[in-house]
Amino acid sequence: MATALSFRLPIPVPTFLLPMIMLLMILLMIYLSTSLNKSSLHDDDDHLHDILLPAFMPSFHHTQTNNYQLTAKQVSPASAPTVSAHQSDSVLLMRGPPPSSTPFTHEPRNHTSNSSHIKKKSSTERIEEDLARARAAIRKAILTRNFTSHDKGSVIGFIPRGCIYRNAYAFHQSHIEMVKRFKVWTYKEGDQPLVHDGPTKNIYSIEGHFIDEMDGGKSAFMAHHPDEAHVFFLPISVTYIVEYIYLPITTYDRARLVRIVTDYIYTIRKKYPYWNRSSGADHFLVSCHDWAPQVSKGKPELYKNFIRVLCNANISEGFKPKRDVSLPEFNLEPFKLNPPRDIGLPTAKRTILGFFAGRAHGDIRNILFTHWKDKDDDIQVFEHLPENQNYSKLMGQSKFCLCPSGYEVASPRLVEAIHAGCVPVIISDYYVLPFSDVLDWSKFSLQIPTNRIPEIKTILKGVPNYQYLKMQRRVTKVRRHFEMNRPAKPFDVFHMLLHSVWLRRLDIRLP
Ligand SMILES: *[C@@H]1O[C@H](CO)[C@@H](O)[C@H](O)[C@H]1NC(C)=O
Ligand SMILES: *[C@@H]1O[C@H](CO)[C@@H](O)[C@H](O)[C@H]1NC(C)=O
Ligand SMILES: *[C@@H]1O[C@H](CO)[C@@H](O)[C@H](O)[C@H]1NC(C)=O
Ligand SMILES: *[C@@H]1O[C@H](CO)[C@@H](O)[C@H](O)[C@H]1NC(C)=O
Ligand SMILES: *[C@@H]1O[C@H](CO)[C@@H](O)[C@H](O)[C@H]1NC(C)=O
Ligand SMILES: *[C@@H]1O[C@H](CO)[C@@H](O)[C@H](O)[C@H]1NC(C)=O
Repeated sequence: MATALSFRLPIPVPTFLLPMIMLLMILLMIYLSTSLNKSSLHDDDDHLHDILLPAFMPSFHHTQTNNYQLTAKQVSPASAPTVSAHQSDSVLLMRGPPPSSTPFTHEPRNHTSNSSHIKKKSSTERIEEDLARARAAIRKAILTRNFTSHDKGSVIGFIPRGCIYRNAYAFHQSHIEMVKRFKVWTYKEGDQPLVHDGPTKNIYSIEGHFIDEMDGGKSAFMAHHPDEAHVFFLPISVTYIVEYIYLPITTYDRARLVRIVTDYIYTIRKKYPYWNRSSGADHFLVSCHDWAPQVSKGKPELYKNFIRVLCNANISEGFKPKRDVSLPEFNLEPFKLNPPRDIGLPTAKRTILGFFAGRAHGDIRNILFTHWKDKDDDIQVFEHLPENQNYSKLMGQSKFCLCPSGYEVASPRLVEAIHAGCVPVIISDYYVLPFSDVLDWSKFSLQIPTNRIPEIKTILKGVPNYQYLKMQRRVTKVRRHFEMNRPAKPFDVFHMLLHSVWLRRLDIRLP
């Protein structure tokens, strides 16, 4: 199985000595970890917590994401990666996945052979070997707390540091490993406009931009042959299915949407070996549309392992943080890639305490309007912004920007606030925040539960100024991860998206 964690003793040892050797090694690890703790890097005034913990434990939402645990679970058509209770195998204990029955480290592959069966097998082996190396490098970075690949990091020109990351060392190394090797195969099946195309403006724009990014032939992550791919992308646009098949709306019945996506999967599953090989666990789809979570309704067993990258990341509607990926929503003007930026005033000149402007969509906003619409100078809440007011400019003049859920959990205000240097205040239930297996949102945003909406002013006023200044500074730091570039650039929003999929791929192992 050759994960990086299996170790071999160089000399034959009597078996009765093995437990003692294990114990010694564990003691050594504990010693190393405590001594490394003392020389910890400090940044951004906060201790870096959880450095030695493989799993991230978000402290403030309804969920737990646990990537970076890097205990690859073997998948096979019969036994797909199910989440077992003892899954928090610790990196410190150096427990790897169970030994595989076909250890390929012993057998040099025969490169001259050209039988298609052997070729396919060896490509899977090569990929798994490669991923094992990546896992090992990430584990090493976690344990040594060192930005080891400093050189490569400076080629990219940026090293993630500080408390906005759950584990900056792990993320840094993981991003490097991803850039070095991650390959995505985009299926060629299907015709535009429902496949290979998507919206590039308005609130679903990230969907079309990502499809075009991966399908356009320019991405550095593009696999040239499916045999070299780590993951498989289905370039279906749920938004375009809704636009072309449903509009003008005569029915909200999602059956046609479900059928189109399911038929697509049946086609690629029949034509190629890749879906069956992993039961879909290395396949993904990206959509920002409200209806996207429902593509997996109807045939839950087909989608059991399938990675859904969704803006509508509502755990109460089946979003699974370990398997799925939460995607930020961008509300873009045509031909723009980002909301206005560099519009924020220095913190001392931000005269509005809290700002929101938006429609009365959904229950949460109704509560917000009941308490705050046109009621307060500090908390400025608008349903209709007056003609002479400029939305982006007001965000840049505000200390906090309220981001309540609308009809669905995600709001483009999160990205807009970050670009305007305004600390986001998330008012939402069941929302899994974007990229929260890498980013620690509690360091640069506030979360206010729906039932405390009446207290918004008290809560915001209660944030001490030094604390606010820290959070605001971190907002400007995290902005890089919410920038859209075409083609994508290191650490931007598409790299973050791909990195989320990469993490989920690291968590499984193909037989
Ligand atoms: C490699 O495969 C070729 C063709 O199948 C075969 O002729 C050759 O003997 C093999 N070499 C080894 C070392 O197995
Ligand atoms: C590759 O396969 C073809 C067709 O099966 C065969 O004719 C050829 O000899 C094989 N080449 C090698 C190097 O084994
Ligand atoms: C971190 O890595 C660099 C470069 O590999 C090395 O020179 C340095 O000694 C390492 N520091 C620690 C604390 O391991
Ligand atoms: C994958 O499995 C499905 C269902 O068992 C089957 O219909 C399909 O033909 C298989 N695909 C391949 C390429 O064998
Ligand atoms: C609003 O303000 C921003 C930043 O100052 C500016 O870029 C944008 O053009 C303004 N929009 C309008 C409609 O005036
Ligand atoms: C999340 O899903 C639950 C269950 O369907 C629903 O009650 C809730 O309103 C959703 N949240 C939002 C903001 O739509």
